[in-house]
Amino acid sequence: MSIDIDKTANVWSNCVDDAALFMPADDDRPLNHKTDHKDHLMYIEPFGVEIWMNEWETKCALNLAETCVESLTIKELLQIVGKNDTDLSDLLTMKMTYGAIEGSDRLRAAIAGTYDTQARQNIIVTHGTIGANMLVHKTLVAAGDRVVAIVPTYQQHYSIPVSIGADVQQLQLREQDGFLPNLDALRELVLPGTKLIALTNPNNPTGALIERPMLEAIAEIARAAGAWFLCDEVYRGTDQQGTGVTTSIADIYERGISTAGMSKAYSLAGLRLGWIAAPQEVIEAVSIHRDYDTISVGVIDDHFAALALEHRDKVLARSHTITRGNLSLLENWVANETRISWVKPRSGTTALLKYDLPMSSEEFCVALLNETGVMFTPGSAMNMEGYVRIGYANNPEILKKGLALVSGFLARQSE
Ligand SMILES: Cc1ncc(COP(=O)(O)O)c(C=O)c1O
Repeated sequence: MSIDIDKTANVWSNCVDDAALFMPADDDRPLNHKTDHKDHLMYIEPFGVEIWMNEWETKCALNLAETCVESLTIKELLQIVGKNDTDLSDLLTMKMTYGAIEGSDRLRAAIAGTYDTQARQNIIVTHGTIGANMLVHKTLVAAGDRVVAIVPTYQQHYSIPVSIGADVQQLQLREQDGFLPNLDALRELVLPGTKLIALTNPNNPTGALIERPMLEAIAEIARAAGAWFLCDEVYRGTDQQGTGVTTSIADIYERGISTAGMSKAYSLAGLRLGWIAAPQEVIEAVSIHRDYDTISVGVIDDHFAALALEHRDKVLARSHTITRGNLSLLENWVANETRISWVKPRSGTTALLKYDLPMSSEEFCVALLNETGVMFTPGSAMNMEGYVRIGYANNPEILKKGLALVSGFLARQSE
């Protein structure tokens, strides 16, 4: 198997192209539109969900848009792993160097331990899962490549390849399929030579879960086309049943790439720490790009991530108590709201709520915020008009209070 490294081999000529990018002084287009010397328009679509979050997250009273399992304090983390919560002596002797460039051996071993077949050499540490995704797309995708993105998903997985000039095809997940991909439709999109299939599993925003048999079927489609298969697995560990940890694509497909991180299932978004688990040749190609935008992650972040992952059973047990308890609260609420319907999530921290009201999802969310202080995310931010997304994995008291206020809001719409 050989990676098509045209892109990485081209680092040098890409730099020359970049240097030639210019905008005429009288050009009043936003700076995310750039024109290169060949008059090729370079553009990246604004990130719908992140823009919504940035605008409202700090203004709302009850955040039901949050996608992390209720975040931990360092003190709570130390208590969970059985350490003295006043003892930060491990940190005091830590020298503030760049640390191990690709992530410490200790951390990469702990990350590899979350997979069945990955070793340290298959892991590279990144600035969050967001950094991992960016690096995978930048490394593998070139202009003109075919990329198939299964949507709704995290916007990186289609807007980045579009910005690179790839031919991005979207496969829409549908409510009537339980928000699982239709494999016949996927087969039609994944033509021979397709460079990459990208999806999020467990899914944000729907909470759908692709289990091993279907993942294997998608891998088979990828294999027939010679495609890489990127699974954004940042919600891995939050399944509603069993151990909570579903199969990773990295463990079942020779061209499978898993991205994940500490933010969601592990409740440690503040570490800004993620990773890529992939065949070694991908890790090597990624590290050429990574030298330009990461160097390393912080040594303190590396330390706490390793600690949490070494005790991941305990951290995940706490997460399951929250996600499983809260989903059952939410299920009762949905059952009593005549204007709301859903496909009940099987994993993750979010659900799409379909509402029966004559207003756009943004109007719904802004009115809800103004009247009650409760924050949802409008479906329009993820091309799912007619739905709002709830993040239900925060503090149960906030969820209960918030849902009661939403009930009042919905009742007023019928008056
Ligand atoms: C599917 C998905 N991928 C990646 C991210 C970014 O995660 P991180 O905080 O690890 O960068 C998010 C955050 O919402 C997400 O939902």
